[in-house]
This record gives sequence, C-alpha cells and structure tokens, in this order.
Amino acid sequence: MKKRLLIVDDETRIRHMLAKRLEPKSYTVVEAESGQQAIKIIQSQAIDLVLLDQNMPEMDGLTTFEKIKNLTEPTVPVIMLTAHGSIKLVLTFLKAGGTDFEEKPIDFDILHIKIERALRASEKLGQEIKHRKDAEISLKKAHDTLEKRVLVRTAALAKTNKKLQSQIAATQKAEKTVQLKDEQLRQAQKMESIGRLAGGIAHDFNNILTAIIGYCDFLRNDLSPDNPQHEDVCEINKAAERATALTQQLLAFSRRQSLQPEIFDLNAIVKDLHQMLRNLISKNIRILLDLTAKSNPVKVDKTQMEQVILNLALNARDSMPSGGELSISVKTTEISTAEAADHLDLSPGCYVLLEISDSGKGIDEETQSHIFEPFFTTKAPGKGTGLGLSTVYGIVKQSDGHIAVVSSPDKGTKFTIFLPCQAETSSKTVPEQTIESLDGTETILFVEDEESVRNVAKRILEDYGYTVILANGATEAQTVLAKQKNPVHLLITDLVLPKISGPELAKQLSKTYKNMKVLYVSGYSHELLLEKTQGIESAFVQKPFIRLNLARRVREVLDQPKQ
Ligand SMILES: Nc1ncnc2c1ncn2[C@@H]1O[C@H](COP(=O)(O)OP(=O)(O)OP(=O)(O)O)[C@@H](O)[C@H]1O
Ligand SMILES: [Mg+2]
Repeated sequence: MKKRLLIVDDETRIRHMLAKRLEPKSYTVVEAESGQQAIKIIQSQAIDLVLLDQNMPEMDGLTTFEKIKNLTEPTVPVIMLTAHGSIKLVLTFLKAGGTDFEEKPIDFDILHIKIERALRASEKLGQEIKHRKDAEISLKKAHDTLEKRVLVRTAALAKTNKKLQSQIAATQKAEKTVQLKDEQLRQAQKMESIGRLAGGIAHDFNNILTAIIGYCDFLRNDLSPDNPQHEDVCEINKAAERATALTQQLLAFSRRQSLQPEIFDLNAIVKDLHQMLRNLISKNIRILLDLTAKSNPVKVDKTQMEQVILNLALNARDSMPSGGELSISVKTTEISTAEAADHLDLSPGCYVLLEISDSGKGIDEETQSHIFEPFFTTKAPGKGTGLGLSTVYGIVKQSDGHIAVVSSPDKGTKFTIFLPCQAETSSKTVPEQTIESLDGTETILFVEDEESVRNVAKRILEDYGYTVILANGATEAQTVLAKQKNPVHLLITDLVLPKISGPELAKQLSKTYKNMKVLYVSGYSHELLLEKTQGIESAFVQKPFIRLNLARRVREVLDQPKQ
C-alpha cells in the first residue's frame, strides 16, 4: 500500500512542487496550507509522515508539531523544512521529538532518503508497539486465566477441606460414642457381677438370719422377762434385725427383693414426702418442687420409690453442708432414638422423669464410676454405709427404669430417673384378710436344703400345732411322702434346691398328691418365683421369715380353696 505523506506549507507553489517530485516515488500526497488544516486532516485520515514548513503566518511549524504530536499513536514522523542556518530551532524541534529536518533549498534525493528512513523507523516502532501490546494482552489473558484457576482451585480446596473437617468430626464423634458405649458396657457388666455377688451373699445370709432370728425367738419365749438373759437375747435379735435390713438393701441392689409394683402418680408420691424431707433437711437448704398439673403415672412399689427419693435427697443434703438448693421435678417426656442412644439400656419411648438436683459439691469423674457400687462411700467412717445409691439403682432397674447422673466438682449434681409411662388406672387396694387363729392341726412337708432353716421352721410350725415332716431335697421328699400314712396338706419348699427346683418338685408331687397345697420360701424375690413358675402367681414367704409371718402365710394357704 502506498504511504500517505502530508505536506504542510502556506506556499502553494512549494507544496505543488514537493507533491510533483514525491508522487512519482509511489507516495500518496495530501496537502495542507496551514497548521490548523494539517491538524484536521490528521484527525480525519491516516497519515504516515508529515513534511512541515516552519515559517507559516498563523501557526508556525514548531507549534503545529507540538499539537499533532499527541494526536497519533505512535507519533507520526515529522520532517521539518527549515530556512538555512536555523540551528537553534532545529535543536528545539528534535528535542521535542521531531524526526528529522531538511534545509531549504531542498535537495530532493536527500529528502527522499530521509523520508524513507523515517518511514522505516516509524514502521518498526509501530510493529514493536504492536508486539508489546499483543504481549501485554496475552500476559493479561494468562493472568486472568491463572487467577480464575486459582479461584477454582481455592474453592475446590475449601470444599475438600470442609468435607475433610466434617469427616474428621464424624470420626471423632463415632470414636467418642464407641468409647462411651464401651465404658457404659463395662460399667453395666461390673454392676451385674457385683449384683450377682451381693445377691448370693444376701441369699445365704437370709438362711443364716432365719436360724438366728428363729432360735432367738424360741429362747425369748422360754425365758421369763425378768431373767437377765432375756435382755441379751433381745439384743441378739435386734442385731439380727439390723443384719436383715442390710441384707434387704443388698437384695434391692441385686434386683432380687420382693416388690409390689402398682400404678401410682409420681407427683403424689413426691408431694407426700415433701413434709418429711422438710423435717429431715436443715433450713439453710431450699427445697423446690416442680410438679406438673397433670398426673405422671408409673408402675412402682410405693415404699421403695419413697426410699429412692429419700436416699437421693439425703445425699443431696449431705453435699450441701453450708446450705444450697435441692430441686425435685417430675415430668413426662418422649425420649427420641437419638437421646436414647446416649444411654446403654434405654429404649426410645414415653418416660416419666424424676430429676433430683442439688447445688452441692458435685462428684468427680472417677468417683462417679463407683457411686452405685454397694458399700462405696466417701463419707467419714460411721457416717455412710454406701448402700444408698446401690439400693436406688436396684429399685430403679427392677422397676424397668433407668438412672443417669450428671455432675462435676462444685457445679452440683443431677440424678435423673426414667420410668416407663403407664396408662392411668386407679391403684387397687387388696383387702386385708382377717384370720382368727394361726393354729392348725394339718400335716406339712417342709423341703429345704439348709438344716438350720428346716429345724427353725419345724419348731415354729409345731408350736402352732402342725405336724411337720422334713426333707432336704426332692428325692428325700418323695421318700418321706411315700412312707407317710396320713394325708399331707401342705408342701412348703425352698424355691432354689439342688438338682430339682421347688416348683419342679411341686409339679411332680401334684400328680400323686392332688389335694396338697404349696407355699414357697426363698431368700430371693417374688420375681424369681414368677420366673420359675412361668408367671403363675403362687404363695410365697420371703426369708428370713419371722414366726408370725410364716404362721400367717401357712394358715392363709391352708384356708384357701384348692385351685
Ligand atoms: N448428690 C450428691 N452430691 C455429691 N456426692 C454424692 C451425691 N450423691 C452421692 N454422692 C457420692 O456417692 C457416694 C455414694 O452414695 P450412697 O448414697 O450410695 O452412699 P452414702 O451416701 O455415702 O452412704 P448412705 O447412703 O448409706 O448414707 C457418696 O458417698 C458420695 O460420695
Ligand atoms: Mg446416701
């Protein structure tokens, strides 16, 4: 493409002459007669080079150059046409960025060389600028892409990080749950084995106590009240009664005590106990009751439940020697699957919650793992037996409930008891049977593997007029019965016997001796009897039996029509 030259000169003659000489050299020539016109042309069309006359009337060459310098990018090359000897002007022009100059009179060959050189330099500069711009654009693009990538990567990383963190949290939670469950399981197994041990001891003690109390009774009856030994026997009897109470607590813990559960409103039980608690607990402890207006029916043994509340309240009292607050609340609540999962043996469902909390000294973690064990106490010797909470534990468990404790040192303690909700029903009252006389003339077979218990029972029953035959187990029972000429009216048997159990024996004998009635005795609970008789209600006497109890129960059974 032809290069376009702009000739700026006020003298038409010179412009034409220049045009005439330059056009043949393959340039397109554009003319301007003043600086102003030159500016307009440059603003409206592409010009590759300017030949600029210095001496023009309105705006000289230097001023025009200053104006057009900023109009193009890169600056269009300008060759100044000057009068001979104007060195100072030329210097100013070149310093200001002018490309070249040619003195008049013009030597066309030299001017042509200068034009070509200027055009090449300008073209090169243009290319360089273009390259630079292209490079800048690519750089910016690369930068933008990089920035975008960084953004995308950062977002992805943040997402991964978040996912990882929630995975870590989930794993930690799962580990904690497993740990908690392990701990709860260990605790439950420990309680179970201590329970078995305590139950076993209590059972054997009950046999021994039956003998002690029985013989005490015989002695006391034989001694006149003013005999000095009468008092000693009474003391032995008192000690045996204390031992019975202790054994009873052990049985409670091992969930083998005899309970008589009925439906009660837990609110009412707490309300009834309030005055008693007020009397037992010093005035510097505030007692707050929070009971719902609606009743909260539960199936419990009332006396045992009172024992539970009392034990917990007294522990709370002991933890606040300088005063504080004891709160007792009862409410019904639905336990969700998630909440139940926090406890080892709690299934989701409806529960009546009994919460007993204090603002006392609290229990540290290590102590907490022992509090339900029998004989564990932190109280001074003689101040506590350590049987309070184990009794509570046993009673709650035996009532199909659950107990939980939340406590930390100096933050107080809260015990929560969960008892399964019950449909509201009025509790039945069993009319007391009135018995005129406890004496009898019937024949009784007493089967028991403990000799001392057998002998005590024989003496008690013979005192009331019965004929008593003894056997140490099922085999001997069969033998003595076979020898017996007169009818045997009642079989009294221990629930647990070696080889054949009491209920088994009763079942075998009932085939031959259809009219013989049955009464069970045991150092264990009524529940165990139900277990052994597959839920069939049977007459039962708890060991250690005292004379009157045994005699009354025997008379009751004998007087009942045979079912
Ligand atoms: N509310 C409580 N605040 C602080 N510690 C308690 C609380 N309840 C129980 N403990 C701790 O648990 C231990 C065992 O309690 P538990 O009721 O079985 O026995 P005890 O109170 O020591 O004796 P006892 O009940 O036979 O008088 C207490 O010795 C005490 O350390
Ligand atoms: Mg206690």
